[in-house]
Amino acid sequence: MPRIRVEPLGIEVQSPPGETVMDAVCALGYFWPVGCAKNGECTNCAMEVISGVGRLSRMGRYERQNLLRQRGPRSIEDPRLRLACQARVEGDVIVYKRGVEPS
Ligand code: FES
Repeated sequence: MPRIRVEPLGIEVQSPPGETVMDAVCALGYFWPVGCAKNGECTNCAMEVISGVGRLSRMGRYERQNLLRQRGPRSIEDPRLRLACQARVEGDVIVYKRGVEPS
C-alpha cells in the first residue's frame, strides 16, 4: 500500500491506492485544513509535494482552474503544488502542509 508522509508534523500513513491524500490522512484521525466541501473549490487544502509528484493522479481541469483562479498563474507552473482533496495516491509520497494535526 502506498505511504504518505506529512511534514512538518512528521507522520506517515498508509493509503489504499486511489484514495485522495486528504481522505487517507483524515481517515486516521488527523485534521487537514479545508474551506469547502473537499471538492477542489477553495484551495485551502493545497500542499507542496516534496517527493513523489509523479505518484499522484494527474491534475484535472477543475483543480487547475481553481488553483489559477484562487492563487494566480504561478501556482500552476510548479507541479509540486497540489490540492490534497483532489490528488489521488498511486505510490509513496512526501508532502508538506502546515496545519495538519491530530483531531
Ligand atoms: S478542501 Fe477545498 S479545495 Fe480542497
